Amino acid sequence: MELATNYMGLELRNPLVASASPLSHTVDGVRRLADAGVGAVVLHSLFEEQVREEAERNARLADAGTESFAESLSYFPSEVEEDAGPRPYLSLLQRAAAAVQIPVIASLNGFTPEGWTDYARAMQDAGAAAIELNIYYLPGDPSTAGRDVEQRYVDVLERVKQAVTVPVAVKLGPYFSSTGEIALRLDEAGADGLVLFNRFLAPDIDAETLAVVPGLALSRPVDALLPRTWMALLHGRVRASLAATTGVEGPADVAKYLLAGADVVMTASALLRHGPEHATVLLDGLSAWMARKGFKAAGEFRGMLSVPPEADEAAYQRAGYVNALRAANAGVYGPW
Ligand SMILES: Cc1cc2nc3c(=O)[nH]c(=O)nc-3n(C[C@H](O)[C@H](O)[C@H](O)COP(=O)(O)O)c2cc1C
Repeated sequence: MELATNYMGLELRNPLVASASPLSHTVDGVRRLADAGVGAVVLHSLFEEQVREEAERNARLADAGTESFAESLSYFPSEVEEDAGPRPYLSLLQRAAAAVQIPVIASLNGFTPEGWTDYARAMQDAGAAAIELNIYYLPGDPSTAGRDVEQRYVDVLERVKQAVTVPVAVKLGPYFSSTGEIALRLDEAGADGLVLFNRFLAPDIDAETLAVVPGLALSRPVDALLPRTWMALLHGRVRASLAATTGVEGPADVAKYLLAGADVVMTASALLRHGPEHATVLLDGLSAWMARKGFKAAGEFRGMLSVPPEADEAAYQRAGYVNALRAANAGVYGPW
């Protein structure tokens, strides 16, 4: 089977990508993912807070006169704790990129366009094949305008694009008034890839202990419905590569995302649930499905079930909704 895939200009051996998760916390973890066959690995995120903490520590050192100013601003300052800030991340990235033959993509998680975005450059220098921007912004202030939220995404992207020459992807959540329009704006602002969708891990409440507890972390295939809908709508309408993330459990989930128009399909929950070697199961299953359907290359069916370019997108969405309701009313889910 011909599974080779172009993602943001990167040549991948196949369209399965291990998305950011604790599995990439070590070089050995990245190696296991590569050995299991994935086309690329996205490292877990470096957080804006980690960058800020280090910047503050360096400022304190500079104030105390213990370091020269230039040294305190370097990417690899010598007077910081070994396990704090971005330094261990960059070291992991460097070692992981050297250890495997597949592209290793670095991930930055933040929400402001200020100084931390410069670390994208340090990631590139450390061997990142691309940068994934995980813009994790929850506008908790009820007076925040939607346009301001969107602008923040564009500003962060533009800052990072100025800092690097490697491709830059933006990982988005689904909570925009017009998801399509923000995707188009990011595309126009130079995003090389759009990763749909980030899952915001909202907290839960334990009614017995009367405490706020961590919410559900791992996904299920049903969670893929929304990202797949948007994949199908955006395919052919943006220049950026499309990466699908959420709800891939078995080979059919990979095939469905490709049919909807994804360039690559990412997975985290299934690999955490079954181990990195599950990537081999997904890839073998994809090849077996292609053989059954008579496909020889992923390019033969990618986007086959996307929304056609000439379609009225709004009517298309509405029809999907109405058909789902009709099916429910016709009793396909059994008697209530
Ligand atoms: C335990 C855990 C840790 C994650 N850490 C990150 C992270 O550091 N950065 C990031 O962009 N996404 C992170 N994600 C999100 C995943 O990369 C992925 O986008 C999301 O889980 C949906 O895909 P899935 O359904 O295959 O899990 C994490 C997910 C899980 C479950």
